[in-house]
Amino acid sequence: KHTASRRLILPCRAALEKATGLLREDGLIILSHPLGRGFLRRLHEKDPIRVPHLLPDAAMLTSLTRFLPLDLEYCEGLTSEEDPFIVVLRRRPVAVMERPLFLRGKVASGFGRGSKKLGFPTANLPSSEFANHLEDLPVGVYCGWAVVEYSPGETDRTVYPMVANIGYSPTFEGQENTEKIVEAYLIGYNPRAASVEEMSAGDFYGKPLRLLITGRQRPELKFDGFLELRARIATDVEDAAHASEAIEPIRALKDHPLLRCAEEDLPLFVGVDQVSQDCCWREDFLDVFLMEAESRAE
Ligand SMILES: Cc1cc2nc3c(=O)[nH]c(=O)nc-3n(C[C@H](O)[C@H](O)[C@H](O)COP(=O)(O)O)c2cc1C
Repeated sequence: KHTASRRLILPCRAALEKATGLLREDGLIILSHPLGRGFLRRLHEKDPIRVPHLLPDAAMLTSLTRFLPLDLEYCEGLTSEEDPFIVVLRRRPVAVMERPLFLRGKVASGFGRGSKKLGFPTANLPSSEFANHLEDLPVGVYCGWAVVEYSPGETDRTVYPMVANIGYSPTFEGQENTEKIVEAYLIGYNPRAASVEEMSAGDFYGKPLRLLITGRQRPELKFDGFLELRARIATDVEDAAHASEAIEPIRALKDHPLLRCAEEDLPLFVGVDQVSQDCCWREDFLDVFLMEAESRAE
């Protein structure tokens, strides 16, 4: 059933994904061939069974690494046929999600296990607000963008970079979340520096929150203690802040209409299995926006 090109690409992608999973952060994958792309192409044309793969060109490398947490660190021979070929890829903390996720729900108060003491107060959206939509989403730390609707009808709401733990908080043994919870920390959110409307509205509990979840950072872990968890969250925040500026299309998605539009326009995007007026979600509509953002970046 598979076309020749799929046979060429799929095993390379799977191998690269597996190798990426073995790397520590900042670890390197080096692809090299002293005789270059043209040499390998001629071997492949002569005997495609024994030499099934080509060395990638720039477009193929981009498509192979698009949703893997890899940065291109160095390359030679990527555009020429006869020069020695070398590509160095570095493991970074954030992967762009193939299917970004949009959620809107009312912020519930936390379990009071100490998000304030941790120094990272979070806005919580319990997964039960979204029917069974989040059931298959792997637990872990994700990043993206957040908007708080402080009062209806505002026109220029702040879009914050955010990092969210989606899971059960296993570090708090005996006090784990009873259901999967999306706990989002809004980076740079500071009620004292916020607008007049935001200040008079106090904090975000009970307000509708929009989240565009666009990157995956790491699995949820059980830490030995509070200090270890706090140190790791600080790193997660740095990684998410960096991704929001440096990784396309995460950066570009800040301007997605789902974050920016008025609330009365949201039902246009809402799925049919919406459970209440305050809650909606989508994950199947961003492809066009992502492709446009990528071509703008090229
Ligand atoms: C970026 C981020 C990463 C987190 N990662 C983990 C984790 O790996 N393991 C864990 O048990 N809890 C993790 N947490 C959840 C914290 O445990 C949670 O925010 C804390 O329990 C406070 O919750 P509460 O005040 O709502 O009860 C993370 C939270 C954030 C914001």
